Amino acid sequence: MSSALGASVDSRPTVLVSRRLLAAGMVRLAGSCEVVEGGLDATPERLCELAPGADAIVADPTVAVDERLLDAAGPQLRIVANFAVGHDNVDVEACTQRGVLVTNTPDVLTNATAELALALTFAAARRMSEAEADLREGRWTGWDPQAYLGLELSGASFGVVGMGRIGQRYAELVAGFAGEIVYASRTPKPEVERELGALRLGLEELLGRADVVSLHVPATDETAGLIGRDEIARMKPRAILVNTARGPLVDAAALAEALGEGAIGAAGLDVYEHEPQVPAGLLEAPRCVLLPHIGSATTRSREAMARLVADNVLAALGGSEPPNRVS
Ligand code: DGY
Repeated sequence: MSSALGASVDSRPTVLVSRRLLAAGMVRLAGSCEVVEGGLDATPERLCELAPGADAIVADPTVAVDERLLDAAGPQLRIVANFAVGHDNVDVEACTQRGVLVTNTPDVLTNATAELALALTFAAARRMSEAEADLREGRWTGWDPQAYLGLELSGASFGVVGMGRIGQRYAELVAGFAGEIVYASRTPKPEVERELGALRLGLEELLGRADVVSLHVPATDETAGLIGRDEIARMKPRAILVNTARGPLVDAAALAEALGEGAIGAAGLDVYEHEPQVPAGLLEAPRCVLLPHIGSATTRSREAMARLVADNVLAALGGSEPPNRVS
């Protein structure tokens, strides 16, 4: 193995793991490939140094796979395998123009991400972050009949924006106690309507009706700023906004302002536009539960994602159709 991928000493294909991959995936790749890891602190410049000669690049949501990296890799590059279901970090068009396949890791993170959205829903509804912070920091002076009053979720109206795999799983999880499930989706989902009694609405109507609004759409040009000042103003004053999808969907400044003014009940966020930066307004906002992008972070999910990444790379390098091709 050599750190300059193009100078590999044998004819095995070379894989650049941009940052780090769990052993479950590394073992599969190392069986038949030369693997170089950029490491968690790999900068875009470092990746461009490592990329020349790579037959495959393993990326993750923090790695911008752009023209510069693709050009640095060279014309032999066959696949960009993203360690995530979302692939907004990958310039898919630039990959397609170069004949490079793009794959992602769907399904295996559906439960984990939907469960985290549910956890954030409860945490925001019951003001868990501020209550715990008070306890840990010595501000809890005893049981208070009026303290930390939150929103009871049994019987609440749940609004699911985006009824793909994760949105659907979230809807299934809340179905046991929700008063109703409404959803906004480009296409109707008859099976969800049949099985969960969910009602499809336009986004505006959903925002005015739901007690909880949970976002489950990918980040695209169309969904950027999906929940801005006007949309937040349409929500009920005690409603909760949950975002486990992607940061750019929500106008963070507008949300922080609405929380500060009491114009919205609470928020639970796992994703931010410029990670790992978290807008100061959100850090200071009341009734706002903030997590560091851990939607898929269960051992089961991340190991399965790593195996899928390896399967996609090995299929592409072996000349067969990768199981999770997005383009
Ligand atoms: C995804 O798969 O898109 C997640 O955000 C990664 O945790």
